[in-house]
Amino acid sequence: MAQQDDVFKKIVSHAKEYGFVFPSSEIYDGLSAVYDYGQNGVELKNNIKRYWWDAMTLLHDNIVGIDSAIFMHPTIWKASGHVDAFNDPLIDNRDSKKRYRADVLIEDHLAKLDDKIAKEVAKAAKRFGDAFDEAQFRATNTRVLEHQAHRDAVHERFAEAMNANDLDGLRQIIIDEEIVCPISGTKNWTEVRQFNLMFKTEMGSTADGSMTVYLRPETAQGIFVNYLNVQKTGRMRIPFGIAQIGKAFRNEIVARQFIFRMREFEQMEMQFFVRPGEELKWFSQWKEWRLKWHKALGLGDDKYRYHDHDKLAHYANAATDIEFLMPFGFKEVEGIHSRTNFDLSQHQKFSGKKIEYFDPELNEHYTPYVIETSIGVDRMFLSVLCSSYEEEQLPGGDTRTVLHLPAALAPVKCAVLPLVRKDGLPEKARAIVDDLKFDFATHYEEKDAIGKRYRRQDAIGTPFCITVDHQTLEDNTVTLRERDSMEQTRVSVDDLHKLIHDRVSLASLLRKLR
Ligand code: GAP
Repeated sequence: MAQQDDVFKKIVSHAKEYGFVFPSSEIYDGLSAVYDYGQNGVELKNNIKRYWWDAMTLLHDNIVGIDSAIFMHPTIWKASGHVDAFNDPLIDNRDSKKRYRADVLIEDHLAKLDDKIAKEVAKAAKRFGDAFDEAQFRATNTRVLEHQAHRDAVHERFAEAMNANDLDGLRQIIIDEEIVCPISGTKNWTEVRQFNLMFKTEMGSTADGSMTVYLRPETAQGIFVNYLNVQKTGRMRIPFGIAQIGKAFRNEIVARQFIFRMREFEQMEMQFFVRPGEELKWFSQWKEWRLKWHKALGLGDDKYRYHDHDKLAHYANAATDIEFLMPFGFKEVEGIHSRTNFDLSQHQKFSGKKIEYFDPELNEHYTPYVIETSIGVDRMFLSVLCSSYEEEQLPGGDTRTVLHLPAALAPVKCAVLPLVRKDGLPEKARAIVDDLKFDFATHYEEKDAIGKRYRRQDAIGTPFCITVDHQTLEDNTVTLRERDSMEQTRVSVDDLHKLIHDRVSLASLLRKLR
């Protein structure tokens, strides 16, 4: 675990050093849980968004996009349930004066119980070597069975308390399990209280009466309130989807793990409107399609798992997370929710406007059911960054830090490097850039020795380096160096476009989803 913490720290400082992610307002000592994306970060982020957007709107002829405003009528948040139910259970430690999410304290405690079991298994695996049968050991070892029974009992109480919104029940688990404050080390806890996560602000001048508005905590409501507009103007027939990418804001109390949990973040959400009764079929379909989208990036199939929810949100009748193996364990990157007809019905009730669909095949009116896929751009960014980062040991004893980014997502696709800064090589290199830059993000670099320039490109994940040398002037060939294998091949300048395009285009990634 400590080793993983070190790796994570290195990734965070690499992200800063190479212009991916900076702490917000850094010259004023930063603003907690808010981050800025730098020159490379914004390109990687835009490429992730483009991959998602095209997969939704180009590959499905029944999905269209919108871009709704962040400010919305405040009644929307009353109707959606966010004013009354978008809360975190908070608890304070009286000695350290620190505030925690009660559910997170218990989840961390459960993770420690899981660790205890994993340690017993690892110890036994070492002792028995090849003869070790893990399943049998887990089923028969008394210590493991005791730990497992304890863990399951805590988990069951936790799920029950969360589902029932039982704040006293959550506190009692913290007391019974003797969970201590990580700062003071004491068990001097307050009661558990609910805390609403929405940011509020005022719209209009106070003199003529201002209105309290919220910064949206999810982009989804912008889709629901535009359902009729899109359905009518786009003449959409059920089943159909509306996709949106945009900022969301949550006043997170436990903000940690870098860009994993932020107060201002970005979501890519798609609401898929279906016939009532068909929602669970579409829910399974979207679970499958979304996992395929993730796996197509080639970050490692074993790094994903589904996690079905113990506690369903107030609007859902089924929900699953797609979790990704981050350096700090499996964590939610995307949620897939069967949201029933809750949101549309609520907006119908609160606005007094009829929001129904006439199904010509069934010859009936109904309020559509909704399957939602909701993924955080920043979490996706973090999963790509973490799984791409490597400190690679090279044969001569050297190491290089390389980002094995999926080529279609890389901020820079190719760098053109004249071997020396004279003899007409810079001019030739610039001519190559001028040709490639219309199709690929292309860098020109002439400073420092060629090896150093390769390392700089490896560190930002550039898939190809093109080196222009004296031979180039004679026969119009260059060396094409591939990032991961570091292999160099001599190719004609005329073939560069095709060679690069085949490897880095978004289209070739999207084709994997067919
Ligand atoms: N519309 C449904 C919804 O918002 P959610 O599970 O609360 O569901 C969806 O959020 C996704 O948004 C999460 O899977 C995560 O990737 C991202 N997300 C949520 N809160 C976040 C935060 N504080 N910081 C970064 N990403 C967040």
